[in-house]
Amino acid sequence: MSLFITFEGGEGCGKSTQAKALYRKLCQQGIPVVLTHEPGGTTLGNEIRKLLKRKQESSISPQAELLLFAASRVQLVAEVICPALEEGKVVICDRFAHSTLVYQGYGRGLDLTTVEMVNNLAVQNLNPDTVIFLDISPEQGLARKRAPKDRFELEDLSFHRRVREGYLKAAVADPNRWLVIDATLPKREIAKIVWGEISQLLSNLAL
Ligand code: TMP
Repeated sequence: MSLFITFEGGEGCGKSTQAKALYRKLCQQGIPVVLTHEPGGTTLGNEIRKLLKRKQESSISPQAELLLFAASRVQLVAEVICPALEEGKVVICDRFAHSTLVYQGYGRGLDLTTVEMVNNLAVQNLNPDTVIFLDISPEQGLARKRAPKDRFELEDLSFHRRVREGYLKAAVADPNRWLVIDATLPKREIAKIVWGEISQLLSNLAL
């Protein structure tokens, strides 16, 4: 009963905390689960992550950035995500292809069709069963971030506003897959909403 869950959201939305909380909850229930993240999650991906987040790498072109995220994803899908799903595990991924759509497409302004093409090439038809989107205004999210800031956190407010707009559009376009949660709610309340959704999905799968 494999299930692929991704967490998405802008800077400071708390998705990593929630991804970890869900991972712990599933472990407690004895459900086989793998928690991973993007960019990274493999030896190659972790090297790419360092390059992409370092602020002195500000000369990376948007197209190179797109392909670096894609390269990290190809490796993660092949090495971690697909094998775990084939073993019937739940896979939780902290960011996935929707991050590329909104950061490189909406944020950087790359052509959305090109971004989708690259995404499709990288994921080979693998789509999350559920996308948990923690929605927060860029002002509130960025205020939660402490220095030193990475290359993305240092982008201006208009970049982060476009990212949020991209997420909201994607969520509206695919409401059955996306769960939108107000990221300003208390952490425990968010974790309860997430668990409510995932436990329901798991019991439907078990039927
Ligand atoms: P984070 O996961 O620690 O938030 O850092 C990853 C950063 O990289 C974050 O600012 C979002 C950005 N990002 C993209 O721009 N495109 C992508 O495809 C992914 C996965 C992340």
